[in-house]
Amino acid sequence: MATAVEIMKSMRFTKIIFALAFLFNRATVMAQSPVLPVGDLEKVTIGEQDIVFKTTNAYGKVMVYSPSIIRVRLDKQELGRDFSYAVVGGVKKTTTNIIQDSQTVTIKTDSLRVIVTKQPYSVAFYTPDGQLISEDEKGLTTSWTGQTVTTYKKMQDGEHFIGLGEKTGNLDRKGNGYTNWNSDTYAYSISQDPIYSTIPFYIGIHHNLNYGIFLDNTYQSDFNFGASNNRFSSFGARGGEMNYYFIYHKRAADIITSYTYLTGRMPLPPLWSLGYQQNRYSYYPEAEVMRIAHTLRENHIPADGITLDIHYMDRYQLFTWNKERFPNPAGMNAELQKLGFRTTVIVDPGIKVEKGAPAYEDGLSKDVYIKYPDGQPYTGEVWPGWCNFPDFTSIRGRDWWHKQVDFFARSGVSGIWNDMNEFSTWGQKAPDNILFNYDGKPTTHLEAHNVFGLEMVRSSYEGAREHLKERPFILSRSGYAGLQRYSAIWTGDNRAEDSHMLQGVRLMTSLGLSGVSFSGMDVGGFTGTPSTALYTKWITLGAFIPYFRNHSASDSRPSEPWTFGKDVLQVAQNYISLRYKLMPYLYSAFYESTQNGLPVMRSLAIDYTFDPRIMWADFQNQYQFGDAFLIAPFESNKDFGKVYLPEGTWYDLYTGTKEAGKQEKIIPLSNDKLPVFVKGGSIIPMQSLVQSTAEQPTDTLAVHIYNGDTSNSFTYYEDDGKSFDYQNGEFYKRSITFNPKKRSVIFTAAEGKRASHFNHIILILHGFDRATGFRLGSSRVQLSDRQFNYIGGGETPGCQVKSVTIKNDSGTIQLNY
Ligand code: NOJ
Repeated sequence: MATAVEIMKSMRFTKIIFALAFLFNRATVMAQSPVLPVGDLEKVTIGEQDIVFKTTNAYGKVMVYSPSIIRVRLDKQELGRDFSYAVVGGVKKTTTNIIQDSQTVTIKTDSLRVIVTKQPYSVAFYTPDGQLISEDEKGLTTSWTGQTVTTYKKMQDGEHFIGLGEKTGNLDRKGNGYTNWNSDTYAYSISQDPIYSTIPFYIGIHHNLNYGIFLDNTYQSDFNFGASNNRFSSFGARGGEMNYYFIYHKRAADIITSYTYLTGRMPLPPLWSLGYQQNRYSYYPEAEVMRIAHTLRENHIPADGITLDIHYMDRYQLFTWNKERFPNPAGMNAELQKLGFRTTVIVDPGIKVEKGAPAYEDGLSKDVYIKYPDGQPYTGEVWPGWCNFPDFTSIRGRDWWHKQVDFFARSGVSGIWNDMNEFSTWGQKAPDNILFNYDGKPTTHLEAHNVFGLEMVRSSYEGAREHLKERPFILSRSGYAGLQRYSAIWTGDNRAEDSHMLQGVRLMTSLGLSGVSFSGMDVGGFTGTPSTALYTKWITLGAFIPYFRNHSASDSRPSEPWTFGKDVLQVAQNYISLRYKLMPYLYSAFYESTQNGLPVMRSLAIDYTFDPRIMWADFQNQYQFGDAFLIAPFESNKDFGKVYLPEGTWYDLYTGTKEAGKQEKIIPLSNDKLPVFVKGGSIIPMQSLVQSTAEQPTDTLAVHIYNGDTSNSFTYYEDDGKSFDYQNGEFYKRSITFNPKKRSVIFTAAEGKRASHFNHIILILHGFDRATGFRLGSSRVQLSDRQFNYIGGGETPGCQVKSVTIKNDSGTIQLNY
């Protein structure tokens, strides 16, 4: 009989045999596998704030980019050129502590602890106090399947995902997969993917923690948030490096600020671009354009923009005007400006191949067009017929386009609308083997496709900035991460359907989560004809989206606000007028966005990230417009709707009725009233009604303050709305703070060289029932009771408020009630 010692010995032996068999098996599987794993770390070099390493099958680098941002690079070959079209924020010098033992390398900053495991390579991110934020799926980590590289992260319990730019579907992306390949998707469905643009950045949320991941790779990329699997979330690309940035902050808002530190922020847009824009495919000839402009004015529909679609051109040829339809474009645009309108024109990237045509010949002689490997220009068909396309990924191509933009400046155009820049050609199959310069590292369509639109709007922005000599407005249909540095974006060819109106809201809030603040959708729907109810609803909603443009397709009925009858016209007047009265608030919100990257149109996931209800299908369309307003859009055929008011105190915009937060509420709906609530503590500056931003409001600024439980601040901002002088200090900025505990309202001393347009301030107080007056310095000012209505024409008595007018002093103004 075997002794106990012998048995134990033989068990140990068996275990060793098993272990060896397992390793042998793993090695054989790996050796035979068509999937190449990153493998084990073999050699690590520790730098001041990075580690560089070689693994069994790859090369890598983990770099501290800032205390809250870690960059990870992995490639099958030695890491190549470090180049990005998206990232403009550099590495920040960061106090970093890196230690290594036989199993791991640990990298510590003030905000993060990163542990790189050596066998096999995997990375995990922890908070400084040791909570797990995100970790590689240990069995899968990062691997290559052919040229496709993918990183797998362990799916955390209860994890949710938001963002990824212009993606259809739900706010919560859990359970779905997405592809990034910029596509022209006429009349797309509300679950179609991909559509026009690529922003490979998302935010993961679990256990009261949130983090961001930005995959900076321009090849076709794929994201999986638990689609057909319950093991991982993953991101990968069909070529190039695994190159991602991991961002951790406690607040989602700060993650967006860090992401826009990396990829840049929107420059201040011209004020006119925040006004209402009237558009159609297409307004022509000149007489029709002028008729539209005059009709807007006659009907008292405030408006700032008229947009010209492809018919302004001579047979759709870029950088031409159709001389019969528009004999004197500069004259017409000057006339429009006198009426308070700015003109935006469409441009497509395709240059018609036509012997003798100046733009085409010039492009050919300057060698700007994309070519096949055999040197022949690539020719694809779009509106004008067969076209060549400038290579916007080359300095030569961008410079050429930049110069062409002068054509528009000379015609008195103020905005450039970049369409079809996915880029789109009939057939939608531009070949893989066409070549792009990619800023000095020639590559194929596969790598350059997704940045074509971005580099086109970069050229338009830079060209317009130089030639227009004032802030240009640039609009794009396509783009890549970072597009906010140059352009606004609209969500393309939507349909005149309720579901599209709501999908549009989610597309825009998702864009906002992904760094793009200035976004719009075709109000009224591009394809098809909206019912009167839907049109009415959509126009009320349009007043609360960043880029407010009504547009419709050439084969649909006209969709100007007066074409749906008197009642609709009245609603359009009400809401467009309200938007103009809110201009000081809106412009300040845009200014804020230029500073911290937070969107103007905000998913509730930014301020109420860990409240699960904001992701529910019932409530996912609700959003904030700036900090103060909560908008609850519903389909046009509903009589009642359920809203969710998150934490805080809320006021009905129209009646002033106060509601407690953290409650669901059934509200009656009507299409002439968009459900809007105001958060307690809000500060909302408003002005008198104007018909265009070119018109001056009265010299009284109305500052609405809503009573609440917590202190709140608002940064008020003014400048000339059109030049770049603000960059030399020509602005007026101050913060307005309301503190309910101290019973005070304080306007800090104004900063900047500019004087305010407003000589007086009227304070309008909501929910201050017991206040009778203010102490202002050594004097006391009396409050008076009144009614206030945000929109005219209704039967509601409006809100019961108290008000007082004071002089607008640029020094500190302190009021105590
Ligand atoms: C496609 C765009 O998405 C649409 O807005 C435009 O009207 C047409 N092209 C015609 O230019």
